[in-house]
Amino acid sequence: MPVESPGESDLSSHDNETPHQPPPSLWPIGFAVGIAVVLTGLVVSTVAAVVGAVIALVFGFLWVRDVTRPVRAPAPSVEPETRAALTSDAPASEEEPATYGRNTFLAGATLGLGAVIGGVITLPVLGFMVLPSFTNQHEPEVDLGPIDEFPEGEYVIATFLENPEIGEVSRRTMYIRNNGQLRGVPSFTVLYSRCVHLGCPTQPNGPIFEDEKSTFDDSVVLIPTLPAGFGCPCHGGQYDTEGNRTAGPPVRALDRAEFSIIDGNLILGTFYSVAKVEGQGARARIYKYGKMPPGVHVDGAEAWLYPLEVPR
Ligand code: FES
Repeated sequence: MPVESPGESDLSSHDNETPHQPPPSLWPIGFAVGIAVVLTGLVVSTVAAVVGAVIALVFGFLWVRDVTRPVRAPAPSVEPETRAALTSDAPASEEEPATYGRNTFLAGATLGLGAVIGGVITLPVLGFMVLPSFTNQHEPEVDLGPIDEFPEGEYVIATFLENPEIGEVSRRTMYIRNNGQLRGVPSFTVLYSRCVHLGCPTQPNGPIFEDEKSTFDDSVVLIPTLPAGFGCPCHGGQYDTEGNRTAGPPVRALDRAEFSIIDGNLILGTFYSVAKVEGQGARARIYKYGKMPPGVHVDGAEAWLYPLEVPR
């Protein structure tokens, strides 16, 4: 008759007491990959960020479902089920509170902590990416006065109040050149004076004829100038007369504004950003993009590598 050794007996009884462990799961790895893709996508591409979010959501859901399975599983019934009959004299037995295993607690705590850390990292980045799209959407249309005030082939410095209610602090400066007509249509080059490195005001590299200044509508001031280009005093950025960057740290050409002519007056329209300009005047080919803040590339590999606004 086989005799069970004391060691074997201990081992088998210990095995029976060990709580059942959930099998190893791949869901946390998928979730982590999804978060990594989201963070990479926020820098590289919005599409990648969305794909990463979907991956993280799917794997996160599967992970949570796995972890909470023991809690959600119905309690095993015990047959036969017996209960003592309650009488008015006997005290009601207290129901045992539901308990959760240590594994469940640790998994829940890990998930919660991961969500908090993910939120802290992701939300500010998301805010910086998305909010600029919802701000400064409506450029005011400004009447800069009769087009006769803009001599053909010459630059004029035009300053105006963007928001007359707040006064001079909203004054903006444009460099405007009347290019004459192209196929019977008036052409104007309308450059925004703000440097596209970090936003300092640029200045014409050439004489400014203050004594020929004229005003229109109390707030628009026009001053003739004869620039060989435009320069920024902050870090030495230089631009040619088409607004192309020629030296220094600016990352693109000067921004421009659309224009229209209504009742013989020049009306300023929507602002936009420009990668570069080929050619000159009315025949210039303008590589046009949506309005971006200073310091942001609008084309080439840098636009993918550095899509976010430079902190100032
Ligand atoms: S802000 Fe103009 S060069 Fe830096």
